[in-house]
Order: sequence, then structure tokens, then C-alpha cells
Amino acid sequence: MNETFVLSAVVVAMLAVTLPWAKRRLELSLAKHPSLTGHSRMAKRVASMLPGYAYDATRFFNSDHAPVAVVARRRAGLARLTSLYAERYARSLALTTQAAEGLSDLQFTGAYRVPFQYSPYLRQQLRVASFVRESAGVTITDLDGNVFYDLTGSYGVNVFGQDFYKQCIAEGSARAQALGPLLGSYHPCVVDNIARLREISGLDEVSFHMSGTEAVMQAVRLARYHTKRTHLVRFCGAYHGWWSDVQPGPGNPDTPHATYTLKEMDGDSLRVLRTRRDIACVLVNPLQALHPNKGAPGDTSLVDSARRAAFDRVAYTAWLHQLREVCTQRGIVLIFDEVFLGFRLAPGGAQEYFGVRADLVTYGKTLGGGLPVGVVCGRKALMKRFREDRPADICFARGTFNAHPYVMAAMQVFLEQLDTPAVQAIYHGLDERWNARAAQLNRRLQEAGLPVQVANLSSVWTVFYTQPSRYNWMLQFYLRAQGLALSWIGTGRLIFSLNYRDADFDEVVNRFVSAAQEMQADGWWWHDATLTDKAIRRGILRELWAHRS
Ligand SMILES: Cc1ncc(COP(=O)(O)O)c(C=O)c1O
Repeated sequence: MNETFVLSAVVVAMLAVTLPWAKRRLELSLAKHPSLTGHSRMAKRVASMLPGYAYDATRFFNSDHAPVAVVARRRAGLARLTSLYAERYARSLALTTQAAEGLSDLQFTGAYRVPFQYSPYLRQQLRVASFVRESAGVTITDLDGNVFYDLTGSYGVNVFGQDFYKQCIAEGSARAQALGPLLGSYHPCVVDNIARLREISGLDEVSFHMSGTEAVMQAVRLARYHTKRTHLVRFCGAYHGWWSDVQPGPGNPDTPHATYTLKEMDGDSLRVLRTRRDIACVLVNPLQALHPNKGAPGDTSLVDSARRAAFDRVAYTAWLHQLREVCTQRGIVLIFDEVFLGFRLAPGGAQEYFGVRADLVTYGKTLGGGLPVGVVCGRKALMKRFREDRPADICFARGTFNAHPYVMAAMQVFLEQLDTPAVQAIYHGLDERWNARAAQLNRRLQEAGLPVQVANLSSVWTVFYTQPSRYNWMLQFYLRAQGLALSWIGTGRLIFSLNYRDADFDEVVNRFVSAAQEMQADGWWWHDATLTDKAIRRGILRELWAHRS
């Protein structure tokens, strides 16, 4: 054997080993969304380098180089809102200020309502109160007696209206009263809940947890345990709680090493699922159908008018079928994370709505009947946490408050209510009703010549803006002034409870349109031909560059 032959053999052997690896690596890269959201590590690096800077009292109003007269209207508009908020929300604001000093959560949400450049000046002028005292029907009342239409949906918990949950909690508490908060043993109502959840999910077994985040953690842990594979696949932009492995990008100081973030609704991702051997599970949050591959649309990132959303039920259904097929072929566990959407679209949740069955399903939020909960439903083989043949090989999952009697009893009432004719009637024609309502608002906005539209997935809505502007985030403050309550992410997500009657909704439409008209009159939506979304983004990049340290 001469040396050349040996060398060639070594090279061929090396290529044989490395080429398949390189091919799989390339496929993985192709399956990443080209945005920063699709590249978690890079996004984290970029986020850590982003310099902080703030607009002063001049730049705040003319960051888009609006004419002097427009700037004056904006100033007057903000001054009017400032005094209106200070007068109308005096007590609620005073308590918010008092609490914020010792409540880190309030400091965080207060700082991240609008793009960071505008936040410090705006907070000096206009603060949003975070205390309320009552809820009834579709409204909430603050400490000053102001009544707001509730568009927050309590982070998605409120599907059937606050009174419904008050009833679940009151009746549930009465049922649990004799046992009290005794933990470890179960209240008999747990048996009912198991039976009903098995029916609803079409799956064999159930486990109870304390939050949606914990339910997702447990579902992924079970998938890893049973498949003996390491990686979870999540889709770009999807939220699954705040556990490290499902939040690999900015916001998490850890760097999870066993998470792939892939493009949703894309053949490249299916190729990765078809070829890699290290994938234990695929996590799907069906809410992403409204804005695939994009993160939750909060107003803090509303720097221009690029935000768009559109729900295509047929396309998303086809995607879920493709996922189901490849997961079945490859022995990958398909997990539907229905913590947000479960029970909102159909009594059987997203599985029923899209007609696709998952191997594990997580629920939470509304299922607790107003109390905190997380639930995993799954196929028997996947839910097992131990092995008879390897007694020390277990998949541990316990939590002090799991199956808390008061939560279980409130859940029992919730599940019983689902079967009542009144709740069944709510589901009848649900999509048609909410699509018609979205169309109604869009028509009114269009007729009024306002640069605002909404997109919806049934009763979950997002607002988008049809002409370039740097100030779209101001709309949230005009909406609040019109008595529409929004969550801290502002116009990015409006969540309606399903007990909205037409008359309530008509009132919301009137107020929404009035808010947008006021904002327009105050000049925030001024624009000229040079003000494009691209120009806005370039301008911001120049500012970032100038403030680099
Ligand atoms: C789809 C989804 N999964 C998980 C979670 C986390 O649930 P929790 O906030 O109860 O921990 C959320 C919360 O918004 C969610 O929307």
C-alpha cells in the first residue's frame, strides 16, 4: 500500500463521516427563520449590545421630523391625555405608584409598554394604573369608579366572562370546603375531572400541575424520557411559558442546548424532522396560526407599521396534518400546547378545531375555573413515569400544590358548565360571529379613513397599522381614555371573552373608532412620502449606531 492510497482512504473515510453531518447541519440552518427571532443566540447577542438611549422632550414629538404645527398638536394631545389620566384615574394611579416601589413586576411592565426610546419621557407624563376593584359582565371597574370594557381577557383565562369564573370559584370552594387545602390525598372531584379531560382530549391519562409553564415542562420531560432523545423543537416566535428550554432567546440568561427553533409552516422544518435522530418532541402553540414565525405582538416593539397578521385556517390545518404525519413516521412526540387556546375555539380545543390529534396536550389558564393550573393529557405509554424493568429509571414530576382541592373543585364546576346548553350555545357559530365582528370594526375604521385594522383568530385579535408611522403605540393610551382596558402589551393583543353581546361589541367599536380619530386629530399619524417603514428602521439603526458604547 503506498502512502497516496492510505491518504486517499483516510480522506474518503473522513468525508464519509463528516458529509452526512454537514448535510444535516445545513438542513438545520435552512430550517431556521431568517429573522433574529429564528436565531436565538444571535438575537441574545444583539439584544445584549443594544444601547439604551431616550428621546428628550423635543425629540419625543418629532422623531419622524414632522412639521412644527403637527408637533404642536401632538404636544397638546399628550398634555390633554396627561391631565385626563391624572384626574380620572387619581386613586388607581396613587396606589400603582405606591405599589411599584416594592413590586418588581409593575416596574417591568411599566417600562415596557412602548418602544424604549419613548418610554422614560412618556412615563413622566402618562402613567397607566394597574389597580381595579370589580368586574362584572364584560367590564371592569377601577378604584375611581371608571368602568372599562375588558379587552385583556385576563391573559386568555377569561373565555366565558368574569361572572362565570366567580361562580366556578364560589361553587368549587363550597365543594372543597370540608376537606380544605389538604394536599397529598385527592378530593373525590378529581375522578370526575380525569374522566372529563380524557373525553375532551381523546387521550388516556392526565396529570395536574400549577401553571401552564409547568405543564409544558412536564410534557417535554416525558417526551425526552420515553424517546431517549435530547432535543425539543419549538417554532419561531411561539410562546410556551418562561421555562428556559422553551425560551432560548432574549429574556433568558441561560442558553438552552437542546432546543431547535425552526420555521413554522415550512417544508425545510419537515425535512429536519424527517432526518434528525435527536428530536424527542415538537411543541406547537396553535395561537401562532395568527402570526406564524412572529413573537407575541407587543407594542414595545411597535417601532414602525410592519406588524401584520392573518389567520388562514385551511393552511394551518394542512400544516398540522403534515406535522402529525412526520411525527408518527419518526416516533417524535407531537405536543399541542393549548394552554392559551384550549376551550376558546371549540369544546375539544385546538385538536377538535383543526381536526388533528396530538400525543400530548397541555392545558391551563381557563381550565382552572379562574384558579391557577396546568394540565398534561397524554397517551398511556407516554404518561408513564417509571419502568418496571429499571426501577431507578424514573421521570420525576411532583409539585406541592398539584391537584389542590380548591383548584380541582373549581375545575370540576368549569367542566360541568361546558356541557350546559348555555355554554354549548356560545360555541355555536363562534368563528362566524367573531369574524363578522372583526370585519365590522375594520369597515368602520376604513370608512373613517383611519390607518388601523385588526386581524383575528376567532376571539383573539391583534391590531395592525396601514401606513408608516413611528407613533402607532400611542393608540393604546387613547383606547384606555375611551374606557377600553388593554393588557400591558397594548394593541398587540385584544382578547375578548365569549359573553360579549352585540350591543357591548357595538360600544367597543364606537369607542375604538373615537380613540383612533382623536389620535389622528392630534397628529400622531402625520406622514409624508419620505416616511416609509424602511426609512424609519434605517433612522433607528443610525440612532443605535450613534449611541453605541
Ligand atoms: C401557549 C402557552 N403555553 C404556556 C404558557 C405558560 O402558562 P403560565 O403563564 O400559566 O405558566 C402560556 C402563557 O401565556 C401560553 O400562552
